Amino acid sequence: MSNNRIVSGMRPTGKLHLGHYHGVLSNWLELQKNFQCFFFAADWHSLTTEYANTDGIKESIREMVLDWLAFGIDPEQSVIFEQSQVPQHAELNLILGMITPVSWLERNPTYKEMQENLTTKDLSTFGFLGYPVLMASDIILYKAARVPVGQDQVPHLEITREIARRFNHLYQPVFPEPAALLTETPKVLGLDGRKMSKSYNNAIFLSEDADTTRKKVLSMVTDTQRIYKKDPGEPDRCVAFNLHSLYVPQEKRDEIVVACRSAQLGCVDCKKILADCMVETLAPFRAKREELAADEGLVDNVLAEGSKKAEVVARETMNEVRAALKV
Ligand code: TRP
Repeated sequence: MSNNRIVSGMRPTGKLHLGHYHGVLSNWLELQKNFQCFFFAADWHSLTTEYANTDGIKESIREMVLDWLAFGIDPEQSVIFEQSQVPQHAELNLILGMITPVSWLERNPTYKEMQENLTTKDLSTFGFLGYPVLMASDIILYKAARVPVGQDQVPHLEITREIARRFNHLYQPVFPEPAALLTETPKVLGLDGRKMSKSYNNAIFLSEDADTTRKKVLSMVTDTQRIYKKDPGEPDRCVAFNLHSLYVPQEKRDEIVVACRSAQLGCVDCKKILADCMVETLAPFRAKREELAADEGLVDNVLAEGSKKAEVVARETMNEVRAALKV
């Protein structure tokens, strides 16, 4: 029953930033080389919080998928699709909902946390409570063996395994229990020193232009204890230096550390070095993305083709589910 299939989804939030690049995307790219991967836009999941205003979702999917494609997530190698185009996700969600105890969902830490934090939205809906059931459907519909996710999604994976186990126990063994695939990802800090995030307004986007990136880098917080250029600085306290480790070659970085600590290099010049390296690294990606974006129908085509392929697998699973269920 085991296989090597990988499934992962992203809620469409629009353009991706450096945090995505060094986290999820580089991870996906590695997996794509070695395994059969299903990558999808989790647009129905977006409805759990965005149900009152769905205007931006289509455009967010387009921006996100363009970033995937420009990055090298390849529709020839991986199945790239849109959740809402594969109705079996909803079908399995309904069935899994019948066997999932409400108490499992109510005790989910993400549920409690978001209820408390997102006070601007009314999240006391059936669908929001059922977020992990839909996620379980996404995963076991393809009998995934492993699911690359961030640490924050681990409780959801735990519920997914519990649901799969319960189905297998109640009816017949249909579903393998998927494991979370947690890979080491560097922590990417945003312009203000908090974790890079679109909602914090501190992100450098993959698809923005070089000038915008330069300006943002120059606005970054450095070592707040270094007031004057003549004061020695400490790279370990410097927010910008967090990005140096991702973009500036080791040798240059070693020089910078020495020059900063001895007050020979000022923060502005130091950030210019970072900006140059970053812009240079991102240039091929940005060129590729522009080229892809010029093709108006590309994303729609990729998603339509991918969704067809996904549906073939999804249908097979649903046949087994219906047979096991005898309904
Ligand atoms: N919940 C995930 C997130 O917010 C997105 C997601 C939905 C997902 N379905 C999935 C991830 C299935 C992995 C597998 O990041």
